[in-house]
Formats: sequence, structure tokens, C-alpha cells
Amino acid sequence: VRRITVPQIAARKGGDPIVSLTSYHAHTAAIVDRHADFILVGDSLGMVMHGMETTVGVPLDLMIMHGRAVVRGTKRALVVVDMPFGSYEESPGVAFRNAAQIMKETQCGAVKLEGGKRMAETIRFLTERGVPVMAHIGLTPQSSHVMGGFRTQGRDEDTWDLHIADAQAVAEAGAFAVVVEGVVEPLAQKITEAVSIPTIGIGASAACDGQILVLEDMLGLGDRPPKFVKVYGQLGDQIEQAVKSYSDEVRSRTFPGEDHVYR
Ligand code: KIV
Ligand code: NA
Repeated sequence: VRRITVPQIAARKGGDPIVSLTSYHAHTAAIVDRHADFILVGDSLGMVMHGMETTVGVPLDLMIMHGRAVVRGTKRALVVVDMPFGSYEESPGVAFRNAAQIMKETQCGAVKLEGGKRMAETIRFLTERGVPVMAHIGLTPQSSHVMGGFRTQGRDEDTWDLHIADAQAVAEAGAFAVVVEGVVEPLAQKITEAVSIPTIGIGASAACDGQILVLEDMLGLGDRPPKFVKVYGQLGDQIEQAVKSYSDEVRSRTFPGEDHVYR
């Protein structure tokens, strides 16, 4: 089976909503692969998988390790890997070197990086050299230390023009799609109308051309997620129940039982 391509995602602007979720490892990715158009190996894995406070501490080799697992576990969806903090901001050349390493070592189809106007030159440098780039604007978690936390963007209408200009700059620079995170609905709508590439919303309303959520958040695994997450599963509760049952059965010597013993 041939994977969904970057141009196929780009061509979905204004069409059927693009479906996406994050995945960090092979088994969950294989499930998501049967339903999503693209899978993001997000740097949120630092928080979700490794207990970090923010995504700022995520190293490049960790993204590559999880990226490889997700590519191995999937065959249909486009796999996009996040460039972690510190791997692309310094210069287009540094960004290219690290993006090329991610693509070579994971075999993913595209990378994602945070930033609007300020990253436009880098996005152009990468796309002109064979690296498809998904941009990420609005609430950009890698800048949380500058912003003073994770703050919804666009509550003040005076800021809208800056966010719209960010979207236009990344589209103009050659990004094939743009994640719009944590912005008020009317701004998400204006951004989506302002660019010819698909907007992928997270906490950005149904006005976007597609949606993405962190898989573990929507599965009900881990901490209570932000307001914009709809929780579709209760995996945390199910795992708790299973672990408790196992513990009880080991203690009462009912596990291992007849079916689980070599005679
Ligand atoms: O790292 C991540 O999970 C992301 C998505 C939330 C867009 O960047
Ligand atoms: Na991310």
C-alpha cells in the first residue's frame, strides 16, 4: 500500500476534514493508521511518555527513536515528526541538517516545526531542498517559557492580524499545512480563510480544515487534559482495573491458573 502523500494532504484544503492523531509507538500507531490521514510523532511525547514538565527538554534522538517505531508500525498514513526545541531555530542550515537526519533515520514523510513569520525563511530553505514542512502557529508550546505558560491565543482581537500574518508567511514559504493550536474560534476561522493550505486545529474549533489531538489525551490516559480535548476512551481506568485484578490474583494464587501453565 502506498502511503498518503504530502501533496494529497495539501489538496484537502476546504474539502473533507483531515483526520490526525499523535502516536509515539508502533502498536498504537498501527491502530491510528487504519483511520487517520496523517500521524504526528509530536514532541508532546516528552510530557506524555517521559514525564517532562514541558516539551523544551526533548532531544532530537528521542524524536528519532519514537519516529522510527511509528513508521515501522504503520503503512498507510503520512507520518510527520516534530522537530524538537533547539534543533531548527538557530539557522536554516542547522534546521536542514537536523530535518535530514530525522527523515533519513525515521523514513518519515515530513517534519513539523513551531513558529510563523520568524520561521518562514527556514521553511522555504527546507522545502526547496526536499523536506516537506508542516508549520505550527497560535499556541506554540516550545515557547511556553516566553509566554509564561500555555495560553490560549487571540482573546485580544488586536493580536489577530499577527496570527493571520504568521499563517500567511508559512504558507507563502512553502509549508504544506499548518497546525493552529489554542486559538479562539473566530481567529481560527480567519486564519483558515486567509491561507490556501489546510489548517489542522487543536483547541481551534471546527473552522479548521482538519483536527488533531494527542492520542493519550483522547483515550483518557494520564492527567486530566485541557478543555479542548474530548475524551473518547477511559484507558486509564481500564489499565487500573487490569493491574488491580492481576495483583489480587497473584496474591490469592489464582493466577497463573489451569490455562496458563505448561504441563
Ligand atoms: O506535540 C504534539 O503533540 C503536537 C500536537 C498537539 C499538534 O504538536
Ligand atoms: Na509538538
